[in-house]
Amino acid sequence: MISNASLVARRQAAVPRGVVTGAPIFVERAKNAELWDVEGNRYIDFASGIAVTNTGHMHPKVVAAAQGQLEKYAHLAWQVTGYDSYLELAERLNALAPIANAKTIFFTTGAEATENAVKIARAYTKRQGIITFTGAFHGRTQLTVSMTGKAVPYRTPGTPAAPGVFHCPFPIPHHGTTEDEALHALAHIFKADINPTDVAAIVIEPVQGEGGFYQTPVTFMRRLREICDQHGICLVADEVQTGFARTGKVFATEHFGIEPDIIPVAKALGGGFPISGVIGKAEIMDGVEPGGLGGTYAGNPISCAAALAVLDVIEEEKLCERATWLGEVMLKRLHAFKQSNTLRPIGDVRGLGAMVAFELVKERGGNDPDPDATKAVTAAALDAGLILLSCGYYANTIRILAPLTIPEAHLHEGLDKLEIALKAV
Ligand SMILES: Cc1ncc(COP(=O)(O)O)c(C=O)c1O
Repeated sequence: MISNASLVARRQAAVPRGVVTGAPIFVERAKNAELWDVEGNRYIDFASGIAVTNTGHMHPKVVAAAQGQLEKYAHLAWQVTGYDSYLELAERLNALAPIANAKTIFFTTGAEATENAVKIARAYTKRQGIITFTGAFHGRTQLTVSMTGKAVPYRTPGTPAAPGVFHCPFPIPHHGTTEDEALHALAHIFKADINPTDVAAIVIEPVQGEGGFYQTPVTFMRRLREICDQHGICLVADEVQTGFARTGKVFATEHFGIEPDIIPVAKALGGGFPISGVIGKAEIMDGVEPGGLGGTYAGNPISCAAALAVLDVIEEEKLCERATWLGEVMLKRLHAFKQSNTLRPIGDVRGLGAMVAFELVKERGGNDPDPDATKAVTAAALDAGLILLSCGYYANTIRILAPLTIPEAHLHEGLDKLEIALKAV
């Protein structure tokens, strides 16, 4: 029998260490919220391939849509000929997104989507400046890694950051930054670094993903909208991780009662097939000259067909309502873990819909981050048969990203395994 250990050893020799594989296992098959490794071990999946399989692994409708497309053609390139699935997907997203009179273009990865969102904002405004936030994650390309608000491990030593990007502190009161302080810092950037009339976009995640599942305060988001309106800046809501029912709404932006100018999307849109997109106000989206946008594989037909099925499943299976319910169940259990004296000390517990997380802290009742315990808990969870992801600016957050289609029994089983892990370390 092939062992995980032998494959991990081959992996060390064949694949660079720069791309980390969190769990030292190799997966043979996956179904909804369950995975089986090459040794036949079963796991509950609380990672969803980093917020991708909101509709579960191998959802029959998504698989059937992709298979149906494969019977016709696999690739054409939108820049060569049109095809209906791209067009229909753009029309459906334009209707769903919280932007009046939207247009949508497709790409392949989240980084491509955020990078193109900036390109579009710069072309429309004819300005260079981009404001992002500490702890933000927008990708690993040269521009998006510069927008990402955490130097280690994302930036490459010796490589200068892309010009024109400025980081504003993200408001997290229990880690020492209030909304007012963040707004003050933004005013300083406008005074010391770049005049607001030279800023093309403020890019913000409605809930920071890799940064630690910290929600942007509603009042802060609304203030950013006002500042953008005042200075003619595009407000870009990066929904790569928050999109497609994860937070209890199709777009997390809907929780804020504002209209962003541009929304990059990716991950859960394709249900496991690679596709990303930029949705934005038509006038802004048309700011780039013909030929300035695109990509050979961008908006691949199989991914477009899968994405149309994903949108159907979200609607038919009421995944927004289910995300809200899942979040309630998870938060109740996590708050109980926090009260327990026999488990590893837990600090802040938070969530929006099924985007739920908690922090591991050095002492019960404190806020001092414990990154070592965080690593130990994810490792102990794997031993117990649970795939879990950590994240966070302070590397002490554990996030729960179960598929929104997870059967109730598997949800409780996963939470039981988490409790075992919290007890074990
Ligand atoms: C908010 C956000 N933006 C952009 C990205 C980059 O997406 P990708 O890894 O598909 O390039 C991510 C990935 O985690 C993300 O969470």
